[in-house]
Amino acid sequence: MIDAGRKFLKAYDWNQGPDIQTDQQKGVPPPPFQKPYPKDTTLIDLVAPQDLSIAPIPLLNAINRRKSRRGFIDEPLSVEELSFLLWVTQGVHKVAVDIRHGKIETTKRTVPSGGSRHPHETYLAVSNVTGLQPGIYRYLALEHKLLFLSQGDPDIAKRLSEICHLQKFVAKASVIFIWALIPYRIEWRYSVAAHKGTAIEAGHICQNLYLAVEAIGSGTCSIAAYDQKAIDDLLGLDGTDEFVVYISAVGKIPIHSRYSP
Ligand SMILES: Cc1cc2nc3c(=O)[nH]c(=O)nc-3n(C[C@H](O)[C@H](O)[C@H](O)COP(=O)(O)O)c2cc1C
Repeated sequence: MIDAGRKFLKAYDWNQGPDIQTDQQKGVPPPPFQKPYPKDTTLIDLVAPQDLSIAPIPLLNAINRRKSRRGFIDEPLSVEELSFLLWVTQGVHKVAVDIRHGKIETTKRTVPSGGSRHPHETYLAVSNVTGLQPGIYRYLALEHKLLFLSQGDPDIAKRLSEICHLQKFVAKASVIFIWALIPYRIEWRYSVAAHKGTAIEAGHICQNLYLAVEAIGSGTCSIAAYDQKAIDDLLGLDGTDEFVVYISAVGKIPIHSRYSP
């Protein structure tokens, strides 16, 4: 078991490894860059990146202040603040379309991704964001909009706390970011070499969240200790072709702990 875990972390040696042809090399069409959703759904608008009025803070201050924060207060986040956090973690600023078949070839985002495949989807458990009803949402990075998935518990944060093995601070979060991996989106190009990178990429995404919350009087603490089946079931994921890989709870922090210029 331990060997399998270590092997996953090593760089696959393309020269010495088995003769593997990727689905891309076989000419299989690429999977979609975003999980599809019913087209008749009403989407929820977010604040566009160019319209964000979040007061900037120096990058070095954000880096120096970064820490895991678990002491959340009851103050809600605004939709603008949530829009900002979604943008910095998965925002799409460029889409390249393959003119041969009209399909998206790559997306360029605010975080890096091997081969620009971006295999993660962002789900949110919202409990205290002004103007959003509590429940589960999915971020549509290509549209920069939210898809409302389900109402869930009235106190969805408490349910998440249970799923995270009763970690108490999770129950006090205003919004919980939940990143799920769609492995085939990157296996299509890299086959057995795909998996190491996906874990690294989750770190890139969450680090942006850690830094960005410092600019909005908030904090976050990332979480790897959770019940895999319970969280996948909550989001309606099959646990094989899509499953949760990382979580981070976000909430406002006391005024005296916030950044002030
Ligand atoms: C991959 C990963 C998983 C983590 N999982 C948890 C967790 O389940 N619960 C928790 O309270 N903190 C978790 N943390 C936060 C760490 O405890 C924290 O980063 C560490 O104590 C260092 O503190 P700092 O982030 O304030 O520097 C996790 C951090 C990482 C990077």
